[in-house]
Amino acid sequence: VVLRRRERVAALPPRRPPARLPVALPRPRPPAGARQASRTVSAVAAPIKVPPPPRKVTRPSQPPPAFLGRLLTGAMIGLAIAGGAYVSTTDEATFCGWLFKSTELVNPLFALLDAEFAHRLAVSAAAHGFVPREKRPDPPVLGIEVWGRNFTNPIGLAAGFDKNAEAVEGLLGLGFGFVEVGSVTPQPQEGNPKPRIFRLKEHGAVVNRCGFNSEGIVVVAKRLGAQHGKRKMEETSSSSDVKQGGKAGPGILGVNLGKNKTSEDAGADYVQGVHSLSQYADYLVINVSSPNTPGLRQLQGRKQLKELVKKVQDARDEMQWAEDGPPPLLVKVAPDLSKQDLEDIAAYSLSTLLKTQIISNTTISRPPPADAHPLAQEAGGLSGKPLFDLSTQVLRDMYIRTGGKVTLIGCGGVTSGEDAYKKIRSGATLVQLYTALAYGGPALIPRIKAELAECLERDGFKSVQEAVGADFKPLK
Ligand SMILES: Cc1cc2nc3c(=O)[nH]c(=O)nc-3n(C[C@H](O)[C@H](O)[C@H](O)COP(=O)(O)O)c2cc1C
Repeated sequence: VVLRRRERVAALPPRRPPARLPVALPRPRPPAGARQASRTVSAVAAPIKVPPPPRKVTRPSQPPPAFLGRLLTGAMIGLAIAGGAYVSTTDEATFCGWLFKSTELVNPLFALLDAEFAHRLAVSAAAHGFVPREKRPDPPVLGIEVWGRNFTNPIGLAAGFDKNAEAVEGLLGLGFGFVEVGSVTPQPQEGNPKPRIFRLKEHGAVVNRCGFNSEGIVVVAKRLGAQHGKRKMEETSSSSDVKQGGKAGPGILGVNLGKNKTSEDAGADYVQGVHSLSQYADYLVINVSSPNTPGLRQLQGRKQLKELVKKVQDARDEMQWAEDGPPPLLVKVAPDLSKQDLEDIAAYSLSTLLKTQIISNTTISRPPPADAHPLAQEAGGLSGKPLFDLSTQVLRDMYIRTGGKVTLIGCGGVTSGEDAYKKIRSGATLVQLYTALAYGGPALIPRIKAELAECLERDGFKSVQEAVGADFKPLK
């Protein structure tokens, strides 16, 4: 037995010099069988040394993290070079198209967020340049001249998206023909308590009761002043032959003025807005149609509107203007006006210099099918798809009443190029949207422009201007 055990011991592999172990590692225990063998052997033949069982090899079985890191970095650089090489063979227009299309990937993520938070994030992204920039020229058929200014396309961003003029550059860069900031109130104010924006997703609609949350004219004037200077410089240093559109660059900027909730003198509020902001604006809007500021909509009444517009016009005209003159004054009206109100506003528009109207703001009504949505009961103004028919009907009424002599901006429920085309045929010279952008993201803008160009060409129009009010003209 002893011999057999000795033979077994001799069969064990020769002892190797101990591999260096990290200090903190416990010395591995020999397996139980070997310990037993060792005890038995020493009891019978003491001097025989039993070599310890082979130690665990410390050779790492997995590559160390540093190695993995290098591998990953290498792979990323490789991918970037390959991607860059591929992109460099792609023309700018295709690449730009991809960029816009790729923004559709993040829309579902935005939809998961609280509506107002998602909106803040979108404004911030546009303010910091994290949105695609349109490099493709607009189809020439979309070009239109209004107020002696060239718009490369008639699709604008409506007020309320960039209330405090934080992201004018980024938003114009998305390819809008014009961007309207505001409504801006003279004093900063918080607006209504949150939550105050509600998505009626199934209907492509929103109910909001923001109540003119605004950083106030001082902050907005500072921002616009800085941007104005920058845009002017970029324009002078630009070698492109883009004809100047607005006061401070190719894009056209509107400033929408509101009043403070607690202000007793609405006229004085709008006059303050004119004094502080009109030098940066290509056009100024008197917003008298938000449903979320008590008493505001009453300013659309015949007498009140007349007095208000006169005050604002005088304030504007008393200022000193360069040879291109003061910005035109517009009024933004509600889609819930009575026939009498419409008639009064039309008559007033025709008899004064108030030669442009934005039709319309949000509605206090709940057009079907959105009325059945549980959130339709929330107080506030409804915008988006269900507003389209109502606001287009008011637009048509106003176009007929003013005989095409007043420039109209059609706004409310536009989600496609076909919708924009319908507004134009109904009498709109320019078109605005907001809610569709919240649902569709930046990719919506080039799509709407391409569809609108297609509609115009399909029906044989050589320009937007030719199609304005086409529904009321004899067929060509
Ligand atoms: C959240 C939100 C805030 C708005 N804020 C303003 C505003 O401050 N001033 C204004 O004139 N219109 C405001 N609007 C109205 C829009 O400018 C636009 O007239 C209306 O939404 C209809 O267009 P749409 O259906 O394309 O959204 C707001 C709309 C929404 C949805």
